[in-house]
Amino acid sequence: MTKDTPIQAEVVKKHIADCRITNIGRASIREIKRLIDYIEKETGTKFIRMEMGVPGLPPTQIGVDAEIEALKRGVAAIYPDIDGVPALKQEISRFVKLFLNIDVDPYHCIPTVGSMQGGFAAFMTLARKDQTKDTTLFIDPGFPVHKQQHKVLGQKFETFDVYDYRGDKLKDKLESYFKKGNIHSVLYSNPNNPSWICFNEKELQIIGELANKYDVVIVEDLAYFGMDFRKDYSKPGQPPYQPTVAHYTNNYILLISSSKAFSYAGQRLGMMVISNNLFNKQYPDLLRFFSSDIFGRAMIFGTVYALSSGTSHSAQYGIAAILKEVNEGRYDFVEIVKEYGEKAKIMKKLFTDNGFRIVYDKDEDVPIADGFYFTFSYPGFTGDQLLGELLYYGISAIALSITGSERHEGIRACVSLVHRSQFPELEERLKKFHEHHPLT
Ligand SMILES: Cc1ncc(COP(=O)(O)O)c(C=O)c1O
Repeated sequence: MTKDTPIQAEVVKKHIADCRITNIGRASIREIKRLIDYIEKETGTKFIRMEMGVPGLPPTQIGVDAEIEALKRGVAAIYPDIDGVPALKQEISRFVKLFLNIDVDPYHCIPTVGSMQGGFAAFMTLARKDQTKDTTLFIDPGFPVHKQQHKVLGQKFETFDVYDYRGDKLKDKLESYFKKGNIHSVLYSNPNNPSWICFNEKELQIIGELANKYDVVIVEDLAYFGMDFRKDYSKPGQPPYQPTVAHYTNNYILLISSSKAFSYAGQRLGMMVISNNLFNKQYPDLLRFFSSDIFGRAMIFGTVYALSSGTSHSAQYGIAAILKEVNEGRYDFVEIVKEYGEKAKIMKKLFTDNGFRIVYDKDEDVPIADGFYFTFSYPGFTGDQLLGELLYYGISAIALSITGSERHEGIRACVSLVHRSQFPELEERLKKFHEHHPLT
């Protein structure tokens, strides 16, 4: 019997076929986005859209104004330095001192075309620094595009789902990979996209100490900087600081995105921060590809030069102006993005009240924070099935299976695009789903 659902199943099926999606659970974020655009257009019914991690807030005005000023001064005509304009490099260095409590020379702070390019440049350089080490290790679940970067680069990677390896268990698991000798770097995001788990100090210490022992570089993706709202990381120069592996190793690259923290995704301006130690390290094997064997110089004058010769001139002034205000305590970026955490708290309750379960629910023994993403499941469904079924109820998300998660029952929800005014609708649709799929 056909169920009375907000979106007719036939319409959904037709568009899935038209989009040539053979398995909805394997569809990329952008494929799901396109599919929902089509279904919304045909049916005129708005979905609760939770598939894509775009900022749901306006851009930070300080940046917009500074960019306009810079454009009026004529910077659009001029190539910026490959490694960034001095004003921005200076503010990034101050930012990491004030919000992470680490010392990094401004010269080692490099703007990139989004944090996405920072990752790409990092992998390209890291995989070439030592011919005995050709593999990246991902601590998953993770952002699928980083794996896509490896695929297009033809680079090797290994991965494991950290779900069963939190706390002390992380040590043996990581070491089992490092011992093999082929891992040049490790990447994870913290807070984590998609699960919103956050590593605690013990876990960061384990990662940092093993990085020292095995000379592995840690690429720490801080795309959601300061957004574990259980602690207040908003005060410059005052503890608590955003946790980072940089307190436990000198072998790191930090990727800091301006997309979510400053709602600045459109300008594609990210920051790559290379530790003083790693920047100056010499790797003779780099000379196979670069004119310098110094890691930081190979990164700037080899990789970043080859990729895009730096990044948008005006956006650099925009972010420099934002960071200056943030660093001097006049602009509290954390306060603004707290809205995501508040929405997540309400939305998670709507799901759990209707039979859904949170998949990644704890940081060791502490309940997970409310933030940009959360993960959920429904008894009796795989993630792929659940994703497909929820489309009939006008709810879209992505399956955890494309994130390297081994929790195949799970789905990732992003809260940013769901407006508070849609909560009653979300509740109604979840209730209907629950009614149609009673739990015994
Ligand atoms: C974990 C993670 N890393 C990197 C990025 C990309 O950041 P950017 O927009 O700065 O390229 C995202 C964006 O969603 C992300 O979730």
